Amino acid sequence: MCGIIGYIGKQNAAPILIEGLKRLEYRGYDSAGLAIVSQVGGKNGSSIVAVKSVGRVANLENKVSEQLEGVVGIAHTRWATHGKPCDRNSHPHSDCNGKIWLAHNGIIENYQELKDILIRKKHVFKSETDSEVIAHLIEEFGKKYDFKKSVLESLKLLRGTYGLAIIHRDEPNKMIVARLGSPLVIGVGSNENVIASDVSAIIRHTDQVVYLEDGEVAVITPDNYEVFSVKNRAVSKEVTKLDWSIEKAQKHGFDHFMLKEIFEQPETIQNATRGRLVVPEGRAKLGGLRHVADQLRGIEKIVIVSCGTSYYAGLVGEYMLEEYAGIPVEVEYASEFRYRKPILNDKVAVLAISQSGETADTLAAIREAKEKGALTLGIVNTVGSTIARETDAGTYNHAGPEIGVASTKAFTSQLSVFVLLTLMLGRQRGMSFVMGQRIATEMAKIPKQIEKMLKTSKDIKKIAKKYLKYQNFLYMGRKYNYPIALEGSLKIKEIAYVHAEGYPSGEMKHGPIALIDKNFPSIFVTPKDSVYEKNLSGMQEIKARGGKIIAIATEGDKAIQKIADDVIYIPKTLEMLTPLLSVIPLQLLAYYVGVGRGYDVDKPRNLAKSVTVE
Ligand code: F6R
Repeated sequence: MCGIIGYIGKQNAAPILIEGLKRLEYRGYDSAGLAIVSQVGGKNGSSIVAVKSVGRVANLENKVSEQLEGVVGIAHTRWATHGKPCDRNSHPHSDCNGKIWLAHNGIIENYQELKDILIRKKHVFKSETDSEVIAHLIEEFGKKYDFKKSVLESLKLLRGTYGLAIIHRDEPNKMIVARLGSPLVIGVGSNENVIASDVSAIIRHTDQVVYLEDGEVAVITPDNYEVFSVKNRAVSKEVTKLDWSIEKAQKHGFDHFMLKEIFEQPETIQNATRGRLVVPEGRAKLGGLRHVADQLRGIEKIVIVSCGTSYYAGLVGEYMLEEYAGIPVEVEYASEFRYRKPILNDKVAVLAISQSGETADTLAAIREAKEKGALTLGIVNTVGSTIARETDAGTYNHAGPEIGVASTKAFTSQLSVFVLLTLMLGRQRGMSFVMGQRIATEMAKIPKQIEKMLKTSKDIKKIAKKYLKYQNFLYMGRKYNYPIALEGSLKIKEIAYVHAEGYPSGEMKHGPIALIDKNFPSIFVTPKDSVYEKNLSGMQEIKARGGKIIAIATEGDKAIQKIADDVIYIPKTLEMLTPLLSVIPLQLLAYYVGVGRGYDVDKPRNLAKSVTVE
């Protein structure tokens, strides 16, 4: 996830671009950059000047001089995917001669293939990014065609996703934008047009917008825009009038970042699995683990180290890996692991799970494991973070920047990577093709299933309202959904400041049932799986003691309505994949209880997004 913005009009572009980048910064803040067409020398034509800086947009702002004048420009704020965050890998990127500059949001899957061809044609690349290849492709087609046709021909060769803004030194009064899989909006002004990844960066300039659809390309001048298909057929577009405030637009129309991130999950799960889940072959490809694939074959145990929500993702991973890949797995709180004397050797892989990639305890655990000769691996969201850099190998979960302090979309993307890892290691260790294909097929359906569930969020809001006054909750689940009970209880603690205990439901009779009365509701995560009947008995025992029950159950389960006071349904899937679905209503429940109790759910008290101290 990156943010792009472009301006073409009569005003000085640089300050407008910087201001827009600040609005888009939530989309990524590894680096920022801009490129401005500066009209120098009249007859000598134009030149394009680029300025880039690692880190926040504020760093770029400090670098941009007041002399940088020009009325056409593009800019980008980066969430690194290919290539570490540094000036060289920052956007905008250019062709060999600095004639063509572009800002890209998305991933070009076949970039290496295209890059090899272009290198053979003597193109010189300056960055490690997938995006730069597009500038060189346009340059290559430019030997035969004009700017527009070169862009269209280039787009036909790209596989992957893009939101693109492109400028050309020799056609300085034009900007070309394109969309496939990454959002792009044109803000239509008077004698000026602004394009951006989302309306938060446009609303300040105009409330008239045109949403580009996948496969559309637009040629934009200060007083016009024309939209085409990649095959160069004109497309007529409707102008939409925005009724968003600036504050709301930043959150994409959602009241909070947390809610926005919950709703992004169909997309972030797709991002985590794109190009990696190979359904027809019933297997998974994880490029970041390729160079240790042989070593992984000989691994006798995996120790997962992590904290908080990432720890719970690890617990789900343990069930998946042991059941389907046949590898013994232990999951440890990183904060405990580092102070024990763990018995490790080169037959053990220590796997760190971290959204931020900077959690101090997790980092220390990885350093300890390295010291003791274990293979260290990471499932990390933040590209270029310390844990990503210090582990021997790993994989990014590509959830994009998570701004809400309570982790939501990072969790489900971590679970998605565990499914991929289970497929990869499982197939190495005797999982059948048929089983691999079954898991992969069901996994591919998850984003759509979540999309469907999110449409019923209003029902969860109603349930949340009923339970606002309760101060205590017991969350229970068994097997794959025991960690989900833990995660659900953590979410409501963090966001709504409600005391909640997460328990394996089989443990209920060994103590916690003593808490139950009419003022202590229970939440049972009980899809139709191999432990369904056991959960049902537990629910009966709670009901017999006057306890209220909210059940998370599988669609079509009518029987549960007779026991639970409220039922939230999730679609049918494989048992191992149920956590990806059952956690969604628990995230929403925590959110609506928190909001209902009047708290700032994006910035819960006492918490920080990245815990870099012990
Ligand atoms: C809970 C939450 C925290 C983090 C934990 C680990 O909503 O966000 O529990 O999961 O601090 O952080 P990372 O994953 O960045 O290592």
